[in-house]
Amino acid sequence: MQKFGRIVGWGHYAPPRVLTNYDLEKMVETSNEWIVTRTGIRERHIAGEGETTATMSIAAARQALERAGMTADELDLIIVATSSPDYILPPVSSMIQDRLGARRAGAFSLVAGCTGFVYALVTAQQYIATGAYRNILVIGAELISRFLDWEDRATCVLFGDAAGAVVVQADDEPTGVLSFALGSDGSLAHALIVPGVGSATLLTEEVIRRKDHTIKMDGKAVFRFATRVLAESTVEVVSAAGLTLEEIDLIIPHQANLRIIQSAARQLGVPMEKFFVNLDRYGNTSAASIPVALSEALEQGRAKEGDTVVMVGFGGGLTWAAAVVQLGTMPQRRQAHGLPLPFSISIPRPSLPISVSLPVSPGRMGARVRNAADAVSSKATALLLPFFSRSERREDK
Ligand code: ACO
Repeated sequence: MQKFGRIVGWGHYAPPRVLTNYDLEKMVETSNEWIVTRTGIRERHIAGEGETTATMSIAAARQALERAGMTADELDLIIVATSSPDYILPPVSSMIQDRLGARRAGAFSLVAGCTGFVYALVTAQQYIATGAYRNILVIGAELISRFLDWEDRATCVLFGDAAGAVVVQADDEPTGVLSFALGSDGSLAHALIVPGVGSATLLTEEVIRRKDHTIKMDGKAVFRFATRVLAESTVEVVSAAGLTLEEIDLIIPHQANLRIIQSAARQLGVPMEKFFVNLDRYGNTSAASIPVALSEALEQGRAKEGDTVVMVGFGGGLTWAAAVVQLGTMPQRRQAHGLPLPFSISIPRPSLPISVSLPVSPGRMGARVRNAADAVSSKATALLLPFFSRSERREDK
């Protein structure tokens, strides 16, 4: 029987130390007025001594487990999305697994820039759908302040540290990720890069002197990219889920810049009230931004059981990802007027930047699959066919 990944717990953590725009005025040549008007950010949290990506993740995870009414040893898998792990080796996911006491769980880290949490949530969903695992902890965590050049006003004012976590549990009712789109355009890799840390470069004094161990960003290129993909991928996943934008209760975008979100709202013709925004208090927390926003939205009642939300992100890679996520049980009204089977799939075509979306819904399956087979490479088709065969068999019943 098809399983669905229900979000049963959520939590977030931000370090107590708050750095305001006024504090930054004393550090670099900037102003509260410039930062607020160009980004919407007013303050951000900065990790203190002793705090790491692992410690922040554990705090968020404990909250999520408590809300789920679960202990860590019930977890089957832990996926940690981060670009700022404690170390290159060991993976921070194993440190978190150990310190949580998740004795039975496998653990791995996933790197997809700021988009990482949506990639991780979708990945968790696959393990649940196949019946492989029942309880998965998904974390988005980032301690980005230690990779910033605090003399570069173009980047240091933008980012903050935080962690967010959800527990996803197998469920028989349709819930969780209803559709998704994952994207990548590595031709824009240079637009957001830490050039001096990694196997491409020997870590020398010269690297440190050039501050190549910190984030370099082509803000304008990222801005152009972000405004395009936020709206496009939202439309793609909403339509792939067989829904309309009106049926979406809340959009949780990556919290990088208010102007990017406002631009997406204009393109989508959706009022800003439908977007959850907390970047004014957190800045851009990269892979943590969407799970922190989800956790706050649930705490504040902006999102609740039964709501259908869109999570949509963009970031280093450059990557993008969007998912329509059903919180709790799907409302009867939606089930009544034609429930799409979860798991619409977007197949990235290597030669094209735009992905092909394949809604997998009853009755349309055959034609969609034939179209897909025409559209994608034989390799991708071969990978997907087993899935479609299973779905079609289920439909035949
Ligand atoms: N304070 C004051 N002035 C500044 C600052 C600052 N902090 N930063 C830049 N300026 C100056 C520039 O030097 C420039 O001055 P000039 O005209 O004399 O040369 C002027 O302000 C305008 O600079 P722009 O770069 O054109 O400003 P823009 O309106 O593009 O805003 C920003 C810059 C905020 C970085 C914007 O491009 C942006 O948000 N880009 C996307 C960034 C992003 O989202 N990155 C992360 C995504 S991925 C991830 O989350 C990891």
